[in-house]
Amino acid sequence: MKIAVLRERREGELRVAATPDTVKKYAASGVAVCVESGAGLGSAIFDEAYAAAGAEIAPAAADCARDAGIILRVRAPEEDELPYIPDGAMLIGMLDPYSHRDAFSAWNRKKLSAFSLELLPRISRAQSMDVLSSQSNLAGYRAVIDAVAALGKAVPMMMTAAGTVAPAKALVLGAGVAGLQAIATAKRLGAVVSAFDVRPAVKEQVESLGAKFIEVPAAESGEATGGYAKEMSEEYKNKQRQLIHDTIIKQDMVISTALIPGKPAPVLITEDMVKAMKPGSVIVDLAVASGGNCPLSELDQVVVKYGVTLIGYSDMPSRVAVDASQLYARNLFNFVSTLLLPEVKWDDELVAGTLLTKDGMTAHKGFI
Ligand code: NAI
Repeated sequence: MKIAVLRERREGELRVAATPDTVKKYAASGVAVCVESGAGLGSAIFDEAYAAAGAEIAPAAADCARDAGIILRVRAPEEDELPYIPDGAMLIGMLDPYSHRDAFSAWNRKKLSAFSLELLPRISRAQSMDVLSSQSNLAGYRAVIDAVAALGKAVPMMMTAAGTVAPAKALVLGAGVAGLQAIATAKRLGAVVSAFDVRPAVKEQVESLGAKFIEVPAAESGEATGGYAKEMSEEYKNKQRQLIHDTIIKQDMVISTALIPGKPAPVLITEDMVKAMKPGSVIVDLAVASGGNCPLSELDQVVVKYGVTLIGYSDMPSRVAVDASQLYARNLFNFVSTLLLPEVKWDDELVAGTLLTKDGMTAHKGFI
């Protein structure tokens, strides 16, 4: 078996799907790894480091992928890369299937077994493979760093001879993986943090990080199966809008991460709220790629509207690429070594849950 690690082509994507550490581990289990030259540069990994770990370095994608049984990726391959990928190979990465439905037929023509790791069921056995958690955690961290960099204000309270600097106030909307790390990071920097989520179950986690949990006075819970959120009633949404409005006007920075999987992101920050915010405050809309929690944020842009800076980067993990690649590569190694080698356990729920296409047909029941 040969594994190929190709350089990511998408603009701004700095991560890579294997590191020297995981190359060594694959080699120890008898699997040869070929890395396309330059694949690690965005994550500060030179070809020499891969070679020292036992990888072959190929000058071009076509040489790298030749005869490979497994292609490791961060993102789905672009159309012009498909000719390199051997027919019948396993393609593994964050394939973003909701936006790549059109690509399924091309993958099927090549009889690829395409695995999309964002679809891994969030059960304890899958934790070491959970790419969403490893990447969202870093995204939540980086969101706060970017917010602070755009804020013309100090974060911690400072008592000086010239007077006291008040601590910055931060609001986190959606206390999932990204949100909880955003809370922790903002707290570490000295901000006064509050957070909001539709799932009452996260109240304890928010409070254990030292933030205030803002609750909508309603009997309705937003908890759906698998720890994800569900869509809320109109009555709840109205109460929520008022509460967010009253809180947001006092904030210096807002990190919004609210998401319902497979649906457009809920609008939580309206234009009127942005108008009412303090001039100079900052919103980081992490949900921007799913439509955004704020309609004024723009994909991959930083814009200033009504005196508020809106940051809409969709590639936050790439902005911490060194660590994002280390964690992602380990997630992939755990998936590949546990479930695909030496032979694929097709009936395992983690395999069935991530497999999009197989033998020329769409295999995932969510996409048939
Ligand atoms: P998650 O599923 O762990 O957390 C989402 C949270 O939002 C959940 O706690 C959920 O209960 C909450 N939520 C849902 N609807 C809500 C509502 N109406 N009001 C308040 N809270 C609500 O997801 P995770 O992994 O933390 O990711 C969060 C978001 O960040 C997602 O949209 C994800 O796509 C995005 N993301 C963006 C990145 C970027 O580079 N911009 C990188 C990583 C993640």
